[in-house]
Amino acid sequence: MIYAQIAGTGSALPSQVMTNAQLPASLETSDAWIQERTGITQRHIAAPNQLASDLALQASRQALAAANLSADTIDLIIVATSTPDYVFPSTACLLQAKLEAFNAAAFDVQAVCTGFIYALATAEKFIRSGSHRHVLVVGAEVFSRILDWNDRNTCVLFGDGAGAVVLRASDQPGIHASVLHADGRHADILSVPGNVNRGQIEGSAFLQMAGNQVFKFAVKVLDEVAREVLAQSHATLEQVDWLIPHQANVRILEATAKRLGIDPARVVMTLDKHANTSAASIPLALDDYIRSGKITRGQRLLLQGVGGGFTWGAVYVTY
Ligand code: ACO
Repeated sequence: MIYAQIAGTGSALPSQVMTNAQLPASLETSDAWIQERTGITQRHIAAPNQLASDLALQASRQALAAANLSADTIDLIIVATSTPDYVFPSTACLLQAKLEAFNAAAFDVQAVCTGFIYALATAEKFIRSGSHRHVLVVGAEVFSRILDWNDRNTCVLFGDGAGAVVLRASDQPGIHASVLHADGRHADILSVPGNVNRGQIEGSAFLQMAGNQVFKFAVKVLDEVAREVLAQSHATLEQVDWLIPHQANVRILEATAKRLGIDPARVVMTLDKHANTSAASIPLALDDYIRSGKITRGQRLLLQGVGGGFTWGAVYVTY
């Protein structure tokens, strides 16, 4: 049996930090409102010339160093992003060139905030099949570019960043199971409903969200998908050392922990300092807890995401 094992992780955050107090005064919001309703205190904002592939590059270099692997050993790169550098080529190909990982095939995955889970599950299947041995999986976003900074309902929630994981083939677990879901009937509750048409943006280039509907949907499916991936892994909630949910809102995290009966102390929380970085949020949180020594080798991690599409999924892994 071939398993996909986490060989190393890395992350990147733009140097510019925007606290709640530094949000545009015209927004008519407050630090107290944002902290109470979301748990967010600050977010990182990419520099004007900083692209998703730049953040992905920094995170990938860290992950390769942690895995003690050189870029030429990577045979596949998967980048999860909803804020790609270009319409095409893929951000994964641009990253491949910057990283000089020329032995790797490369493609992007688009599942919004579930993107990293989709990418990780896809990478696992390549490794399990025996076709690939070292896969670089990245979540990289510059959501600050698709926010309407006059819309307090959305712009306070998001930030920029990237996280990366190198997976390697091993005869020891590794990823035990992964599950993915989608329901396109809910496409309109979270979207950027625009496209490029004859040199113009048709529709809107800004993120739109029905916050209450997203909230209810997220709590329901995060509960279901955690139980589903554990059942497939023949594991129980008691065996989970860390729940690593997509970092959307502290109240979603708390409600999910409560429904699952998991001690909130076992739920990874980086939302306060990163805000919601969409596809980057899970690998950023994972790397943060590994580098600070909270997550250690041999521990069992339940990674779970939910996002636009709607999409949701989970991965259960021994680190
Ligand atoms: N500052 C001050 N007031 C605000 C702000 C703000 N930033 N945003 C909204 N309000 C106001 C609203 O206008 C509304 O005012 P009104 O009563 O005069 O109409 C009031 O606050 C209450 O608004 P609600 O939407 O009911 O507030 P709620 O408690 O539901 O919180 C929130 C809104 C934080 C968006 C919440 O619904 C939420 O977190 N939903 C999940 C959305 C999410 O996490 N999205 C991330 C992307 S999706 C994903 O990652 C899965």
